[in-house]
Amino acid sequence: MAETHSIISVGPRKVCVIGWPVDHSRSPMIHNTWLKRHGLEGEYTKLPVEPAELADTLRFLPNLGFRGANVTVPHKEAAFEALAPFVDPPAERLQAVNTIYRDPDTGEIRGTNTDGIGFWTHLKKSVPDFSGKTAVVIGAGGAARAIVDVLETEGRMKVRLVNRTMARAASLVADIEAKAMVYDWQQMPKALEGADLVVNTTSLGMKGQADLDIDLSPLPATAVVYDIVYVPLETPLLRQARDRGLATVDGLGMLLWQAAPGFARWFGVEVTEDDVATARALIED
Ligand code: ATR
Repeated sequence: MAETHSIISVGPRKVCVIGWPVDHSRSPMIHNTWLKRHGLEGEYTKLPVEPAELADTLRFLPNLGFRGANVTVPHKEAAFEALAPFVDPPAERLQAVNTIYRDPDTGEIRGTNTDGIGFWTHLKKSVPDFSGKTAVVIGAGGAARAIVDVLETEGRMKVRLVNRTMARAASLVADIEAKAMVYDWQQMPKALEGADLVVNTTSLGMKGQADLDIDLSPLPATAVVYDIVYVPLETPLLRQARDRGLATVDGLGMLLWQAAPGFARWFGVEVTEDDVATARALIED
């Protein structure tokens, strides 16, 4: 009897993170912490899905008992392809989906992208108003797309995009119709000159990877340095910034705040600052 009850009431409240591999994901820890704090029935699990199985998995998500999902590496672009045209504007602009939910009015399975808004929410909470100021974005991968897009659309910032491979930076600008100026790696000092914000969107500096070896001395003393890497929390880039007396922001806040809009859609509850702080403390442990 108890088992039947749990299948009926808990089954439809299941959400998962889909990736390949997906073992490393911190999303279950974040969402299960929030479910518990709000006394909600539900479960957030990891679902490893090979690339060849992605489209079918997304199509049958409700049949598998899931009311929604996050999508992570390497599936964000393929999830967009599989779900279009049922995608929200940020996913449409970025051609990538990281959050899947069921529209309560139409019953459609829809995709959205919360990476940019997660970054922006955390940035706004951490530092002064940057409207109209200048940001240097390092890297031109998927995370850079979301960040350049939100800095320009929400932040009205002027973006300088620095990437090792110029062609990739140029495609980013063309694909998302950004206004960003493109710089190559050798032009890094020029790009940093007078900038108000620097964001590392590459995985350089992550545990087990090479460091992002750049000299921050061209930056003004008021600049803020943001690293989306969060393992370790203080990357060599952030340490250099701190040693120079610059303000720093680590990548854990982006991870937490990109999760919040999905939680609200799936479970109908807005995430609070306290929820974020609690999940953050667990991850830091
Ligand atoms: P994601 O989608 O997670 O952002 P990605 O698509 O693999 O990751 O992008 C990685 C970014 O890190 C790219 O901008 C890449 O530069 P290239 O476009 O030149 O490949 C950058 N990157 C990776 N290793 C690098 C290195 N050793 N030096 C400079 N940039 C590097």
